[in-house]
Parts: sequence; C-alpha cells; structure tokens
Amino acid sequence: MKSKVSDTRESFDFQWKNIPEGAYFLSDPVFRKNVDGILIDELNLSKDFLKDLFVVDAGCGNGRWTYGLLKLGCKVVAFDFTISGFKETKKNTKQFNNVDIILADILHIPLKKNLFNLAFFGDVLHYTGNIRLAFQNVASILRHGGLLHIYVYGPKGKRDRIWRKILSLLSYNNKLILKKKLTRLTNKFPLLRTL
Ligand SMILES: C[S@@+](CC[C@H](N)C(=O)[O-])C[C@H]1O[C@@H](n2cnc3c(N)ncnc32)[C@H](O)[C@@H]1O
Repeated sequence: MKSKVSDTRESFDFQWKNIPEGAYFLSDPVFRKNVDGILIDELNLSKDFLKDLFVVDAGCGNGRWTYGLLKLGCKVVAFDFTISGFKETKKNTKQFNNVDIILADILHIPLKKNLFNLAFFGDVLHYTGNIRLAFQNVASILRHGGLLHIYVYGPKGKRDRIWRKILSLLSYNNKLILKKKLTRLTNKFPLLRTL
C-alpha cells in the first residue's frame, strides 16, 4: 500500500505539472507584480533588511515565493521533493543568478547546519507527515538568531466548505477545466476573487 507521504508527493507533482495557473500564483499578473510587497507585509521585515539575506525556501512548490524573495534581492536556496516543483521553480526564476534549486526532502535535508538567515516555510509543515522532524530539520539549517517563517492552515471556513461540496460533485477533469476557466476570469477581473 502506498504511504501518505508518497501520495502527497505524487499529488503535488501532478499539481505543479498540470495546474500551475491560479490566483496568487506567478501566472496571475497582479500577484507577480506585487509579490515582493506581499512578502514584506507577510514577513513584517523591511526591504533593506531582506536585501542580500541568505534564505531557504523549504518546500518551494513551483517557486512563487522564491521568485518574490529573489525580486527583493535575497540569495535563495529553494527545494521541494517533487520533480515538477523543482522544474517549475527553475523555469520561474531563470532570470536570476543568486538562486540554487535542489530536489530534496525536508525529512532528509542535504544541506549543512547553521547556514541561513531566514527560512521561509510556507504551507508545507502540515504535509510532511512528521511535523516534529520537519520543524527540527528546517530550524537546524538556520544560523543562530536566524528567523523562521512558518505558515500553516487554520480550520476551513464556511465558504471553503461550500466550494468543496460543489467541487466534489464534479469529475476530476471537469474540476480541472473549471479551475482553469475561473483562473482566467479572476486574472482578468481581480475583484471576483472575493467570491
Ligand atoms: C501547498 S504547497 C506550498 C508550496 C509553496 N511553499 C507555496 O506556498 O507556494 C506544499 C509543498 O510542500 C512540498 N512538500 C511536502 N512535503 C515535503 C517534503 N517532505 N520535502 C520537500 N517538500 C515537501 C510539496 O511538494 C509542495 O510543493
């Protein structure tokens, strides 16, 4: 029987290969333009502080935050355990020099300890299957006094539950088609995103 971790890897691999479009992704021109500002707000750090900072983007997905960190002048090592995440991150950051992208598992990070000033660990911890080890491993590659930014999901809201109910009525292919259409629409009319 397949483990939950290999299911997670497989489904994200599929996601980054097949549905890299979406609001709040780099295919969304509003997000692409503002991603550096969003990061400054999210991290609550100044542009000057972030410039030249050595940052790891752990579980980088298709590299949307890696791109933002690079735009802010950080030096970034980004990694993910999916091949398509690795490839998409490479593609999405090809105009920058100060970036290394690797294919790696958070539960066995092939990097030296005490390296980074900041670890960006967004929306990943709850997928690893071993929260304690994942947390310890990412913390261990930080320098003494380094900063760890973690984002995890809270409980699902009402709107999310309704959307999930509606989507569960559709076949996988129809979900994909609907998502692509909605993405195109919301990229054109960003105000619709509140729906
Ligand atoms: C919800 S996505 C978030 C991606 C990215 N941080 C973002 O916010 O766009 C979660 C990511 O964590 C990665 N991931 C989950 N477990 C991992 C592990 N053990 N090692 C490396 N990456 C992992 C997945 O492949 C996926 O790309």
